[in-house]
Amino acid sequence: MVEVALPALLQCPRCRRAPLVPDEAALACRACRVQFPRVGGVPWLFADPDLSLGDWRNRLTLYLEDFAAAARLAEIELSGARRAPTRARLSLLREAYLEQARLVRELLAPLAMPALPLPHATQLAVGSALPLSQDLHSYYANVHRDWCWGGEENQAALAQVGPAVGAAERVLVLGAGAGRLAYDLHQTGASRLTVALDINPLLVLAAERVVRGVPVELYEFPIAPLRTEDVAVRRRLVAPAPARAGLELVFADAWRAPFAPQSFEAVVTPWLIDIVDEDLEQIASAVNRLLVPGGRWVNFGSLAFPWRNPARRLGPDEVREVATEAGFEVTLQRDAALPYMRSPVSRHARTETVALLAAEKRRRAPREDGGDAAQPAWLRDTALPVPRTEALALAADASRIQAVLLALVDGKRSIDELTRIVAEQRLLPPAQARSAVQGLLERLLRSAERIERA
Ligand SMILES: C[S@@+](CC[C@H](N)C(=O)[O-])C[C@H]1O[C@@H](n2cnc3c(N)ncnc32)[C@H](O)[C@@H]1O
Repeated sequence: MVEVALPALLQCPRCRRAPLVPDEAALACRACRVQFPRVGGVPWLFADPDLSLGDWRNRLTLYLEDFAAAARLAEIELSGARRAPTRARLSLLREAYLEQARLVRELLAPLAMPALPLPHATQLAVGSALPLSQDLHSYYANVHRDWCWGGEENQAALAQVGPAVGAAERVLVLGAGAGRLAYDLHQTGASRLTVALDINPLLVLAAERVVRGVPVELYEFPIAPLRTEDVAVRRRLVAPAPARAGLELVFADAWRAPFAPQSFEAVVTPWLIDIVDEDLEQIASAVNRLLVPGGRWVNFGSLAFPWRNPARRLGPDEVREVATEAGFEVTLQRDAALPYMRSPVSRHARTETVALLAAEKRRRAPREDGGDAAQPAWLRDTALPVPRTEALALAADASRIQAVLLALVDGKRSIDELTRIVAEQRLLPPAQARSAVQGLLERLLRSAERIERA
């Protein structure tokens, strides 16, 4: 089987026009003059590579601090514990927290590699486009489900998704997590190239080792441990066999995927569409852009849209309509009751009625978010004037309110005094001023602390 080389499909996630070309560091966009490093051997293809690296480093620092704090708490509680089983549990937990921090630090050591640290204030001011809701420990149990709990759940997922993907030669799995479904599709299917894309370095770097046949050790902390000794279980994560050639991992944001239009014959979104901030219309357009005509979108997972706004909590019929409006013909839509998150050491185990949808691309999506149209010329061409659009004017007003408020913080004024001043200056409506000032200061404090502790 002849391989398809990944670089041939790559396109800059920043300008979404120029190809990415290999250079000595990893990959580069000549138009944007930006380099995209490899992190642990995996291309780091976020539109803002330095900022996103800074963000994930911060998140790693927080993760390690949380584990250190949990170990200290277990230690304190241990010194006062009377009962033997309590002592055994706390002692096990303390050791496991310390060890887990060591194992994760080692696994994620590549994050510290291409050192281009931004000043803290810069990182705080401009941040990166990473979703705030996603942390290093998000979906952590998936690592264990994928590579250690036994095959039941993975086989059940493959039995649904595999036939829907069919004989596609280039397959993209968006939000691939710890990589098992992508691996299984690749090992059992006809694809010459399977790309597993995700934003989470813990999941991706674990997957990268495991699929190459290198075992990874990490602790599992089950939700409802069966026995005392199950509160923390050291796991050895292994793949059934090293992946055959053509399975590639990339770090990237699914909605700024670093690929040229029409790069894939199948795009799979497993357990993804209802955990991201993007609207389904936007997701369907982005998937459409990545597919060749006649290519397949295979969506698999729950439809548990968490939005407060009821209009955004779509049901299966609406999902079907959105897919159709985005240029797809839905060829399959069904539910299946599948085992889900059944750790052998937990009392907590689910059966989920999982939705499967397969849809073929019949025409281009009317709204191509991932396409050239998405990026105005002044963003690509840095010599053009930046128009004061409504959105930018709004952002400027919001920043002005923040800047004025922060400038008033002199170490002497209370929230009451700040509130009075901003209300007098008509920066905030008097009725909401106090709670707005409180809320804003709290949010700014938290995000500043996140950066400072990193
Ligand atoms: C619910 S998990 C599902 C993981 C995997 N597909 C599975 O079935 O086990 C959602 C995954 O999407 C990833 N994710 C979230 N937002 C993403 C984004 N914007 N781009 C790429 N991956 C994303 C998370 O890191 C996580 O691995």
